Amino acid sequence: MSEVNSTILVTGGAGYIGSHAVLALKRAGYRVVILDNLVYGHRELVETILDVELVMGDTRDRPLLDRLFQTHAIAAVMHFAAYAYVGESVTDPAKYYSNNVIGTLTLLEAMLAAGVKTFVFSSTCATYGIPQQLPLTEDHPQNPINPYGMTKLMVERMLVDFDRAYDFKSVSFRYFNAAGADPTGLLGEDHDPETHLIPLVLQTLLGMRQSIAIYGTDYPTADGTCIRDYIHVNDLASAHVLGLEYLLKGGKSDFFNLGSGGGFSVKQVIETAEKVTGQKIPTQIGDRRPGDPPSLVGSCEKAAKILGWTPQYPDLEAIISHAWQWHQKRHGSAIAGE
Ligand SMILES: NC(=O)c1ccc[n+]([C@@H]2O[C@H](COP(=O)([O-])OP(=O)(O)OC[C@H]3O[C@@H](n4cnc5c(N)ncnc54)[C@H](O)[C@@H]3O)[C@@H](O)[C@H]2O)c1
Repeated sequence: MSEVNSTILVTGGAGYIGSHAVLALKRAGYRVVILDNLVYGHRELVETILDVELVMGDTRDRPLLDRLFQTHAIAAVMHFAAYAYVGESVTDPAKYYSNNVIGTLTLLEAMLAAGVKTFVFSSTCATYGIPQQLPLTEDHPQNPINPYGMTKLMVERMLVDFDRAYDFKSVSFRYFNAAGADPTGLLGEDHDPETHLIPLVLQTLLGMRQSIAIYGTDYPTADGTCIRDYIHVNDLASAHVLGLEYLLKGGKSDFFNLGSGGGFSVKQVIETAEKVTGQKIPTQIGDRRPGDPPSLVGSCEKAAKILGWTPQYPDLEAIISHAWQWHQKRHGSAIAGE
């Protein structure tokens, strides 16, 4: 099968990371069809920026999936559609097992029925749980500490069994903290509710929040605040294209971390945002949050070695300045007009 000109089904393609992956696929010459129920996705971004077909529907709708595979020559699936609020997964686990596990199983069954056996999956560093050593490598034990991480681990396990039984080939990417925006300013992060640090910091600068909370300043890190590994969303997107091409060329099923290989503390993120924007950010010190490890940083050597992936934007300043450009465009005019 020729790789370029193949149609790729992107579930969750109207969301944050999925939309950047759609753009990367289009730039690489692929045709794309998006399946998204628009619970969190943005129709107008698909219609105005991505300009690809949007099938509005749910991964748990098997008849819809069967029709989709019958009417499109799908070569492979990139699966971003899921719920991803860790706190909500603790208070409402049923919602997460239904969407993230049953939704994925329904999709995998429809793929098998249609003879499509190439799959790129959005997993997460939350499958590791509390790190025993850093940086986290792919062979680190996986003991998720919340239902969200468990749903993603269950899918990873399903994929191992599907390969063994059905010769179903997949690449699972365990992302660290996705951040940033397409450097053109066309796409970016717009979650509602927002829980990620960088957009929260930028929303504070835009006056959408009063201050940014720093949860814990007594961690065993250089400045006492938590360290996380931020990865530019376009670098995630380029890894997905490489993962897809690796599978289409006959690569074996595998699991890869996607991070920057380094980390930044909460204070470093705030200071960098102040430098990029030239504005002071009001902060509030809060208590540590239960379950927050001091540091979460992943090794990305495996993706570099096997997929030939290298992050193009590893520095925090580029990540924050691209995000800032997007946030000003997305929210700035509305706020100025108030
Ligand atoms: N954002 C991060 O830092 C991060 C980190 C690790 C893993 N992930 C994973 O990456 C994926 C994408 O995350 P995101 O931040 O872009 O989230 P997002 O909410 O912006 O995108 C998810 C998209 O999937 C859609 N969707 C959800 N359930 C669906 C269903 N059953 N059927 C059809 N569409 C459905 C939503 O409407 C949304 O457009 C998720 O699987 C998430 O678990 C994200």
